Amino acid sequence: TGAGLIDRYGRVVRDLRVSVTDRCNLRCTYCMPADGLDWLPGDAVLTADEFVRVITVAVRDLGVRGVRFTGGEPLLRRDLETIVSGVAAMRPRPEITLTTNGLGLGHRADGLVAAGLDRINVSLDTVDADRFAQVTRRSRLSDVVGGLAAARRAGIGTIKVNAVIPDRSDLARLPQLARFCLIHGYQLRVIEQMPLDAGHRWDRSQMVTADDILRTLRGEFGLLDDERPRGSAPADTWVVEGWRAADGGPARIGVIASITRPFCGDCDRTRLTADGMVRNCLFANTETDLRSVLRGGGTAREVDAAIAAAWRGNAWAKASGHGVNDPDFHQPERPMSAIGG
Ligand code: GTP
Ligand code: 5AD
Ligand code: SF4
Repeated sequence: TGAGLIDRYGRVVRDLRVSVTDRCNLRCTYCMPADGLDWLPGDAVLTADEFVRVITVAVRDLGVRGVRFTGGEPLLRRDLETIVSGVAAMRPRPEITLTTNGLGLGHRADGLVAAGLDRINVSLDTVDADRFAQVTRRSRLSDVVGGLAAARRAGIGTIKVNAVIPDRSDLARLPQLARFCLIHGYQLRVIEQMPLDAGHRWDRSQMVTADDILRTLRGEFGLLDDERPRGSAPADTWVVEGWRAADGGPARIGVIASITRPFCGDCDRTRLTADGMVRNCLFANTETDLRSVLRGGGTAREVDAAIAAAWRGNAWAKASGHGVNDPDFHQPERPMSAIGG
């Protein structure tokens, strides 16, 4: 067992993001075309057992302390509960979190919590039903709102809402979303869009920036500097004057400014794609194939050791930053939905 995963810039990997499927049941315009994408074939995607096997090595031998399940849409995996309970049995027990679009949470929140899920982040860009249908190309707002409520009823204390603001015109609706989150005790985090859309149409000059977002929020709410240390979290947070969080503490709102205020220097993440590739960054241009190692044979010990060694090599190659602001930046081949957000 090891010294943990340390990259050549001295950053220590503590957080593993696992994409369990590249498929999705929404078609957000900034993410996917209306017809979807060419999904991975079934046998290319890791099974529940294979995920648990790889995550075991990450937790036991590589120092990972938190596991976040993403997609695509992770709830499309019928066996997500099985994977979650497999991870919950690991020692040391990692924190287990989920990033979901919320469809299907209504009937799965209880089972996921029973399996060991600790926290949940739900993607919700607007609470205007017409705009929601336009952006996601599906009229499912009430399912997401119901999913959030089910997560709360299931006993999840910290519920975050992730909002991408795809268009400048959406800023006018942001206070409405913020109020919805404050009333229900969900922590809103507003995200700068990154160049990870399948259509490669991201345009720096059109992007809604953290400054735009903050100006809009300050027009409606008093935002106080947050004294709480940020650590490796992607969000800058503010305390919202006059509002309380679900636990009775101060309510917070966050902004994830990946482009205008990159936080790569404090990154503690590594990723596993649904097809078993390790990616050390959303914007990495190399991946390490763990699936072949996993399926290649050998004793369990040998396979685990080979996975750990491959992962160490991949971590060592992690770049200092995402490079989006460099003149020679090239968008990665895989879109966000196939990397895992
Ligand atoms: P917690 O802070 O633990 O609640 O989770 P999180 O914010 O790390 O996870 P979540 O899946 O909710 O991610 C929210 C947003 O953070 C994503 O939509 C991305 O915009 C951004 N994000 C997550 N990981 C990375 C990363 O490695 N690099 C950058 N630049 N952005 C990231
Ligand atoms: N840039 C930033 N965030 C994005 N998401 C999807 N595409 C992008 C993008 N290009 C968000 C989703 C979800 C999270 C997993 O990633 O809205 O909240
Ligand atoms: Fe699905 Fe998330 Fe992409 Fe929307 S952003 S289409 S919810 S994967």
